[in-house]
Amino acid sequence: MKLLTSLFLFVSLCALVHSLSFTLESRDEPIHRVSEKFLSVALDSSEIEGRYSDFNLSDPYLTKLVSHLSPMYFRIGGTYADRITFSEEESTALDDIVGFKFLASDWLKLYQFTQNANVRLIYDLNSLMRNDDGTWNSENAEKMIKFSSDNQMDVDWELGNEPDLYHSVYNTHVDAAQLAKDYNKLRSLLNKYDIYKSSDLVGIDIFDVGGSQSNQDYLRTFLQGAANAVHAITWHHYYFAGKDATKELFLNPETMNQLEQRINVVTSLVTSNKVWLGETSSAFNGGAANMSNRFIGTFLWLDKLGLGAKLGLDVIIRQTIFHDNYALIDNAFTPNPDWWVSVLYKKLVGTKVLSLSNDGTSANTIRLYAHCAKDNDLWDDSAVVVFGFNTADESASFTIKGLEVSEAYSYEMTAESNLYSQLVKLNGQILSTSLSGDLPAMEPKLLEIPSGSLSLAPYSIGFWVIPNSGIKAC
Ligand SMILES: *[C@@H]1O[C@H](CO)[C@@H](O)[C@H](O)[C@H]1NC(C)=O
Ligand SMILES: *[C@@H]1O[C@H](CO)[C@@H](O)[C@H](O)[C@H]1NC(C)=O
Repeated sequence: MKLLTSLFLFVSLCALVHSLSFTLESRDEPIHRVSEKFLSVALDSSEIEGRYSDFNLSDPYLTKLVSHLSPMYFRIGGTYADRITFSEEESTALDDIVGFKFLASDWLKLYQFTQNANVRLIYDLNSLMRNDDGTWNSENAEKMIKFSSDNQMDVDWELGNEPDLYHSVYNTHVDAAQLAKDYNKLRSLLNKYDIYKSSDLVGIDIFDVGGSQSNQDYLRTFLQGAANAVHAITWHHYYFAGKDATKELFLNPETMNQLEQRINVVTSLVTSNKVWLGETSSAFNGGAANMSNRFIGTFLWLDKLGLGAKLGLDVIIRQTIFHDNYALIDNAFTPNPDWWVSVLYKKLVGTKVLSLSNDGTSANTIRLYAHCAKDNDLWDDSAVVVFGFNTADESASFTIKGLEVSEAYSYEMTAESNLYSQLVKLNGQILSTSLSGDLPAMEPKLLEIPSGSLSLAPYSIGFWVIPNSGIKAC
């Protein structure tokens, strides 16, 4: 009996100090190089009607908050994109148009905002202005493009949003071969203007390709007709509907694994273009209340950034910077936890992606990714950044084969008090911006690690920069 008890104790102790193992594959080259604008954000098209928007484009504080995510794309798009008419007449009378008039003066303000924040604007044009024969009526788009060129507005373009959902949202249909022609038409239109010859056209902002055979066929047909006209293929991804969200869905690695299958389907179909997640967040229909905008939401976001880069995505555009439950910045202009995660990611994570894999099962509640670290005076060029999180309620430690970890600059992010906190801590200090929107120091803790083993507290995020890694790919 006594022996059994001590055996039991021994086994439980082993479980407590149980250390997970990961492997960094040794290669001379990174497995992928992502865009320097990899982490980007969207502002929904429904937010740009100047008279009604709370997104104050002349507010210097808001501009500063957005600028901390530079370099990135700032995508104006979404369901409303297909209801907007550009207008140089300042009258806001609706006449016979569907949706709203986007005034040239608001367009100029929006562009000025992105210039001030040093981010690259992508504008999603209305694809549902159609002629009787089903072809795209480009007249209004041409007006907008000409106006933009006349005003030296250097931007990138999209045409339409979620054509696969046109039937359910707008009770209409645009077939893939037609949409391919429309993209070619838009590309030649843009080529008429010097300023847009080199600007990018991206699309088709299709929703959930991996979950539907008909969407895969749609994308395939589009690519046959328009692969040369577009720079990147964009598609959208959400894990679940806001109304269905639960704590378990936000923490469960199975939710995160779902994305892998989706990405693999799209990247196998798209062979000659870059692939972007053109609009994405945790939950659709505006996100999940008190979750998408709270600490509990950070794990799905950081996992998407890690997994997306590892599987070859070039850019990920987060829905959305402002408004609704998935906003990075709340209505009072206070940053939500995902904004802080994004800022830290921008500061530390470089464009060269390394292959870090889990030696255990895909059900692990610790998930880790690795890139070459972004340049910083604190470390050398060969520094590697390992980042990830622990969604379990107990701490865990891990080792990384193939990476000698004897010291690390450590950035530990935790909630102020619980998973539903809006405030987050970095190395134990609550993060906040100054009144003018400047960032706090966000300094690391230098850890000496004789054991080579790192650890993650319950429900925490970690970024560790390992200097002098000797990894050739960096
Ligand atoms: C927008 O910000 C500017 C500059 O801070 C301020 O003067 C203006 O009142 C704000 N507009 C609204 C509608 O709050
Ligand atoms: C979200 O939290 C707020 C404040 O704690 C509360 O008033 C609101 O009812 C919550 N909403 C939902 C949908 O749980």
